[in-house]
Amino acid sequence: MDEAEIAQLKALMEWEGTRSAPPEGFPKLPDMPAARYTSAEYFALEQTHVFRKSWLFAGHMDEIPEPGCYMRWHNAGDPIVIVHGMDGAVRAFHNTCRHRGAPVVTEDRGKASRLMCGYHNWTYKTDGRLVGVPERRDFPADFDLSCRGLLPVRCELFGKVIFVNFDADAMPLIDWLGPLAREWEEFAFDRIRLAARHSFDLNCNWKVAMEANMEVYHVPFIHPTTVAPLVDSARNLNTLYPNGHARMLAPAPQQTNREHVRAIDSPPGWQQIDSVGELGRTCTQSYTLFPNWVSPLSNFFVPPLVFWPTSLTTTRLELVTMALDWGDAPAPDLWTVPDASKPNGRQMSPIILEDTQFGEAIQLSMQSAAFRSVPLSYQEARIYAFHQSLDAMIGKSNIPGELRVEQVIGEAWVWPREPRLDQMERDRKAATQPAE
Ligand code: FES
Ligand SMILES: [Fe+2]
Repeated sequence: MDEAEIAQLKALMEWEGTRSAPPEGFPKLPDMPAARYTSAEYFALEQTHVFRKSWLFAGHMDEIPEPGCYMRWHNAGDPIVIVHGMDGAVRAFHNTCRHRGAPVVTEDRGKASRLMCGYHNWTYKTDGRLVGVPERRDFPADFDLSCRGLLPVRCELFGKVIFVNFDADAMPLIDWLGPLAREWEEFAFDRIRLAARHSFDLNCNWKVAMEANMEVYHVPFIHPTTVAPLVDSARNLNTLYPNGHARMLAPAPQQTNREHVRAIDSPPGWQQIDSVGELGRTCTQSYTLFPNWVSPLSNFFVPPLVFWPTSLTTTRLELVTMALDWGDAPAPDLWTVPDASKPNGRQMSPIILEDTQFGEAIQLSMQSAAFRSVPLSYQEARIYAFHQSLDAMIGKSNIPGELRVEQVIGEAWVWPREPRLDQMERDRKAATQPAE
């Protein structure tokens, strides 16, 4: 990010702190129907049109570091195997044998030069081709192995981070990321290692869980001692991007030297990502990668929270920390802490417990007759824009009228457009003009 862009974003954050109303021309956000969180029909539409067509976080190259390494993945329904091919390429396949559907790999992680189904030993190369069928003589003479390879799933990398997409016609990952790809260059996705990856089950719709991480309105109230000392929510600047992505960017409160705070709460041995610029070092910024990834990015970590719907009313929250190599020091884990009483020996960190504390009760409220709709403020516009993007991807005509949101936030408010600049400039001129 160049100096001019940094200066402009800093000026906009200051301006956000001074305004006395939402920006001029920013649309009033209509109430969102509560049924979007409780309707089985809407849930099915999300599954079909959003989760089957979006690029989804699947893993990190550290999980399949060498040719022949593979990992199972089933966070979005269909069982998948992601394979580091003997030719070096990373591919994903349905983990479904083309014979009678047994899983081709049965361990979460493993290494093999060929993948062999355990049922009748059909054997596949790591590029998915079927190369071995026992008792071949019992199949017809023209039985064509070449059209019975493992069925591929789109799989692309951003640095060392692996994404998959069930839609064979989806745009390339780099286009899906759009401007984020450039803005994320400084965070060294090609050098960061996987430090921690843990999952927790939540009793609420995935959007209820995710939306706690898509606004800073709540920060002073539920994070008074954890996040609030680092984030001045009044000076928060939201930016909306194409394809449903978004960013929040907020400075530390005036009385906090954020860089100093980060330096003292980061144990020795954790390497800083030197390429990270001023905003990543001194502000809090968090990106929503549509549909289900939210991650602050700083000079210490790339720590995504990933929200997987497991049913209409349940969610699996993945808490991931990626960071530069930590040598002999303990691996960084921003979001979980040791807890011997838990099945996997970890508990969510205090910040995550704060963010998830109301999810189950909110879900029950949403299902009650008492709660019909959700009013959102300008500071919560990332949530509204996220819902607009869900509906846009599902297709308006597929959604019953009572479940839709109105598409009121137009292109004028989506990057690279920035209508707040004009108002900021007018406000600046008005402030410097001598009173008449
Ligand atoms: S089901 Fe895989 S070899 Fe028969
Ligand atoms: Fe929060």
